[in-house]
Amino acid sequence: LRLVLASVVRADASSLCVEAPGFPAHRPGQFAMLRLDPSGTRLDPLLPRPMAIYRREGQRLEFRFQVVGRGTRVLAELAPGASLSLVGPLGNGFELPRGRALLIGGGTGIASLYELARQLGPRARVALGARSRAALLGLADFEALGVELELATEDGSAGRRGLVTEGLQPRAGEELLACGPLPMLRAVRALGRAAGARSWVSLESPMACGFGICLGCVVPTRAGYRYVCTHGPVFDGAELDWEALA
Ligand SMILES: Cc1cc2nc3c(=O)[nH]c(=O)nc-3n(C[C@H](O)[C@H](O)[C@H](O)COP(=O)(O)OP(=O)(O)OC[C@H]3O[C@@H](n4cnc5c(N)ncnc54)[C@H](O)[C@@H]3O)c2cc1C
Ligand code: FES
Repeated sequence: LRLVLASVVRADASSLCVEAPGFPAHRPGQFAMLRLDPSGTRLDPLLPRPMAIYRREGQRLEFRFQVVGRGTRVLAELAPGASLSLVGPLGNGFELPRGRALLIGGGTGIASLYELARQLGPRARVALGARSRAALLGLADFEALGVELELATEDGSAGRRGLVTEGLQPRAGEELLACGPLPMLRAVRALGRAAGARSWVSLESPMACGFGICLGCVVPTRAGYRYVCTHGPVFDGAELDWEALA
């Protein structure tokens, strides 16, 4: 992992593109901590924000997000040329399955899956869900990959009306790889269990440091507590203690 000073190429209400010279190569599902004030003089927002690395071309990195609070609002309003610091790549990321995979993304979790879908190509089937069509982050990019795509939205503006996991059936030989809100990941684990399929879930727990120092991101697993930022964010669905997970 490395601390890199990045320069904003463009930003809008759902994406941020930066030039980040020297940022190391990453695996699908890894993330960066974005500090909005590299000089450290501004107190609001004080803490860096974790964001999945959505896509990379050369030294240009792209992030996709939803504005939910102060930090993401500041990101959306960054002007071209503004600087921010990135620490990363962080976390374990997804291991590329050897066979077929069912990728399941919900809400902001969709951003963690694009690079994985791109690398898996025709071996991937992708199911994406969000509140509405507009909240399906990077939908056009997923469509351009030509992978088998199933959509679900809560308001019915794209695909099926309802939750992405409703009516979803793993096919024989598929591994499940998912990122999204906890209730969705719980449902993914249940789907995998019922179908005898292995499931891997990426948690989007709030984080203050991103690399094992603040102890703010622990989750219960069958082997005791683990940090989401360093042991995860991707966990084997069978490893997490779902009863204790709030
Ligand atoms: C590994 C990882 C990767 C992530 N990747 C992405 C991504 O690619 N795109 C994206 O849009 N978001 C992503 N997130 C979530 C993102 O970090 C938060 O939405 C962001 O930090 C919120 O900052 P804020 O200042 O805008 O909101 P805050 O003002 O900090 O919070 C606003 C509201 O959102 C809630 N909130 C904050 N963080 C989270 C969270 N992690 N999970 C659930 N609720 C939260 C708060 O409780 C509060 O109600 C990721 C999180 C993690 C841990
Ligand atoms: S975010 Fe600080 S220890 Fe995980």
